[in-house]
Amino acid sequence: MKDKTSVMIPQEKLEARIQEVADQINKDYAGKTVHLIGILKGSVMFLAELAKRLTVPVTMDFMSVSSYGDAMESSGIVRISKDTDEGIENKDVIIVEDIVDSGRTLSYLLELLQKRKPASLKLCTLLDKPSRRVVDIKADYTCFEVEDKFVIGFGLDYLQHYRNLSYIGCVEEIGDERE
Ligand code: IMP
Ligand code: MG
Repeated sequence: MKDKTSVMIPQEKLEARIQEVADQINKDYAGKTVHLIGILKGSVMFLAELAKRLTVPVTMDFMSVSSYGDAMESSGIVRISKDTDEGIENKDVIIVEDIVDSGRTLSYLLELLQKRKPASLKLCTLLDKPSRRVVDIKADYTCFEVEDKFVIGFGLDYLQHYRNLSYIGCVEEIGDERE
């Protein structure tokens, strides 16, 4: 049986909200260059849609972190499997993330990047699940707050599948096969 999934946030709604957040960043960073750091792999679609809508100068880098845990829960032990290519000293950095869940991954990353002395460091997330928070982390820019359901699509995966969906969906029932 295939996983049973449903649509939670359709593509048009995602794009409209990402435009609003981009407009806000354009205002907040007027006269500056924004250095986006996308957290692989979940942030790629969001980062692309956001970056296309930024009118301030933009540079980009990527980091890959894995937090040990099972498919649906992060453990808080974070390992950097790919660090940024460039340093961030004196840059106006925005971390771009797919979702803040327990907050463990982001709290670790914020602390690590802060030590590298950026001019400023902010966090922009597509989704926020505040009900699941274990560590006290608040994003500076949040597109959508979602309820406590396992979400997929627009970069987010379940067992590495569904990242390519153009909308945010959720897994209603787990099957033994993925589409
Ligand atoms: P945290 O450390 O618990 O905040 O987990 C953050 C990471 O867990 C995210 O960057 C996602 O990769 C993953 N994650 C958390 N919740 C979900 C979800 O509902 N769907 C897919 N991935 C999730
Ligand atoms: Mg992630």
